[in-house]
Amino acid sequence: MSGIPPGPAGRAAVLCGVGGRLPERIVSNAELSARLETTDEWITTRTGIRNRRAAAPGEATSDLAVEAGRQALRAAGGEPADTVLVATATPDRRCPATAPLVAARLGLTGAAAFDVSAVCTGFVYGLATAAGLIATGVSERVLLIGADVYSSIVDPADRTNAIIFGDGAGAVVLRAGTPGEPGAIGHFDLGSDGDAEDAIIIAAGGSRSPVTEHTPRAERHFAMRGKEVYRHAVLRMTASSRATLAAAGWRPEDVDHLVAHQANLRILHSVADATGISRDRCVRHLVDVGNTGAASIPLALGHAHDTGALVPGDRVLLTGFGGGLTWGSCALRWPDLSPGTGRRSTGGKDPR
Ligand code: COA
Repeated sequence: MSGIPPGPAGRAAVLCGVGGRLPERIVSNAELSARLETTDEWITTRTGIRNRRAAAPGEATSDLAVEAGRQALRAAGGEPADTVLVATATPDRRCPATAPLVAARLGLTGAAAFDVSAVCTGFVYGLATAAGLIATGVSERVLLIGADVYSSIVDPADRTNAIIFGDGAGAVVLRAGTPGEPGAIGHFDLGSDGDAEDAIIIAAGGSRSPVTEHTPRAERHFAMRGKEVYRHAVLRMTASSRATLAAAGWRPEDVDHLVAHQANLRILHSVADATGISRDRCVRHLVDVGNTGAASIPLALGHAHDTGALVPGDRVLLTGFGGGLTWGSCALRWPDLSPGTGRRSTGGKDPR
């Protein structure tokens, strides 16, 4: 892709396809209880999670991302994307980014391709990036994939984190359309707080602290201050959701689906309660797949779409939170994604 034309007026990024990929292997609470000092009851009551998926040995983030991306492109009608974004905290390698490899494996060599690094908020940041690229005319069609293989960074002996995280990839395709049409992505709220950098961290392995033979095991793995993260997650996703609702002109009771980062069922319910959204509007995919990092929101969207929960015209509020700390939200009306509508979406529900 070359040349950056001036932004044509009245353009918006419109969601026109979803896809997802989960690794085959299911890791149940019973399996974790057999090898870690924990129980199904502890995990279920504290997190709501019953199962998660684990990548096979050698199965990397790009492997899941390619399959999720392929599915989303097919669902969107099969047209190639000119831009590929991969939101991930577990890139295949520290250098280079994973997105160019994913693009090449999808037959999209030549597309603009880069990673979005905002940990579990990466997908929402990626949506905002895609929206900007399309609104300014830089991109026409963006494939955005959230993909993470947390099993590659979580210490399998760490009972607090091993129970929470799962592996997976979710993807959406965004095409150039017009603001206000169903599927148009808008009304973003994004934020960060780097003072709490060490609340979610892999301490070693970057330029600050390269790994040496003296690096302690704990610093090579993902670490999280659970209680603090819990508090921040509720506060930040609530404030961000409220800001996005205000920007969209929606009341809490207008929201048909709250698709929050699938961190912990208690967090989802607390955010819903504090925002004034009924708990039964929460999409709960984490019960089956755990916290899949940047993949959690697109996988939850795909799950809700596949099960028929998402109806064209539904008002959907996305909200994410993750390491950085970072957070972000966005609002959209669900488009008609039935076969054949990938290029032009039409809402099927009366506007409220
Ligand atoms: N099984 C049994 N006991 C466990 C356990 C497990 N898997 N993990 C921790 N414990 C223990 C702790 O060691 C602690 O024991 P102690 O009281 O003897 O010291 C006790 O349970 C309470 O630990 P605590 O960390 O206070 O539990 P919690 O109620 O805060 O729940 C989390 C822990 C991780 C589930 C919770 O803090 C959480 O969900 N945090 C947010 C995580 C998240 O969503 N991260 C992603 C954001 S992107």
